[in-house]
Amino acid sequence: MSTDTTNPTESAALEVCSNTDPLHLIDVDHVRLFVGNAKQAAFFYAYTFGFQVTQCDDLTTGNRDDASYLLTQGNIRMILTTGLNKDHPAQRHINLFGDGVKDIAFTVFDAEKAYNKAIENGAESAYEPYKTGDEQGEVVRAGIKTYGEVVHSFVSRTGTYSLPNLKKGSIIFPGFQEMVHPLNQFNKDNPCGLKFLDHCVGNVEFNGMDKAVDWYEKVLEFSMFKHFDDDDISTEYSALMSKVMSSGSGLIKFPINEPAEGKRKSQIQEYLDWHNDTPGIQHLAFRTDDAIQSITELRKRGVNFLRLPDTYYEIVWDRVGDIQEEKRLIQELGILVDRDDQGYLLQLFTRPVQDRPTLFFEIICRRGSQSFGKGNFKALFEALELEQDRRGNL
Ligand SMILES: [Fe+2]
Repeated sequence: MSTDTTNPTESAALEVCSNTDPLHLIDVDHVRLFVGNAKQAAFFYAYTFGFQVTQCDDLTTGNRDDASYLLTQGNIRMILTTGLNKDHPAQRHINLFGDGVKDIAFTVFDAEKAYNKAIENGAESAYEPYKTGDEQGEVVRAGIKTYGEVVHSFVSRTGTYSLPNLKKGSIIFPGFQEMVHPLNQFNKDNPCGLKFLDHCVGNVEFNGMDKAVDWYEKVLEFSMFKHFDDDDISTEYSALMSKVMSSGSGLIKFPINEPAEGKRKSQIQEYLDWHNDTPGIQHLAFRTDDAIQSITELRKRGVNFLRLPDTYYEIVWDRVGDIQEEKRLIQELGILVDRDDQGYLLQLFTRPVQDRPTLFFEIICRRGSQSFGKGNFKALFEALELEQDRRGNL
């Protein structure tokens, strides 16, 4: 069975620069979160998820508008940003939504060309192309608006700021400076094994899914991800509908959810209720090659994962069959398992990482399967019903 540990971002990044498609996405450049207190949030993500806190751009580096920290792990780059005055866009964002994802940025060959092509395809501008840099190199950035208030930035890089240099630890943007964080050594000694952003899920309003799907098709020239169960997920259990959009290069997938009528309030509606009735990012999924090692370490660090009743494991192996991991450990760690016709996957979801029931994270390990764990929606509900039945309450 294929272990499927290839990082598509790595192989995409190695492609020759002669690519003529302006919307060819080389890599996920970074994910930017707007947070209430970047200094403290950096400590949280460093401790709980094992990120290295390597660079910052704040008052100490001469930035009087905002404070940003760069967190890295594998090929994941997260920037946490807080505004330093009341008129900063991050402050408004936090007022409306709490901490959350603002920008999923892509590295491209030419950010201005990518932006122009996206605008030509019908995108609305978030901000126009601008260049920063010095004698060491240059960065061009431009942004377009997707659902809600989420932005996709295009970033093109040269010289010291190039993507290969960034991956080796060079400065991400002019203005940032290297920093030492007290948790970096601990995290090097106790790795969590997160490799790259596997997918990024958005929640949109009722009837908003097809609009968002069209947007990704037309503007970014993504296509609908085809797999064994690519029909809408709409069951009485999950109370949501979902379609998955995939970038042309296979770099990243964007599942898009909308609420559906179910037995109980849709989890998507709950998100929207606490997100100012505005679409946004529901979860980011980080890929690991070793779910047992990653989840063991993350649990040790206090990551608050969802816990399933043990009854889940009384039925899961009938559905999933044999796996290469030890089943006892999977159950002890509370990891979820699902299978499709290409293989299986291991996944686990955190509870929301802030007070509002909005953004959470997923850890995913793929053993051939390219889907998203649809079988777990139903299995979770059935496991809960089994417990209910034992109590004579069904
Ligand atoms: Fe997911």
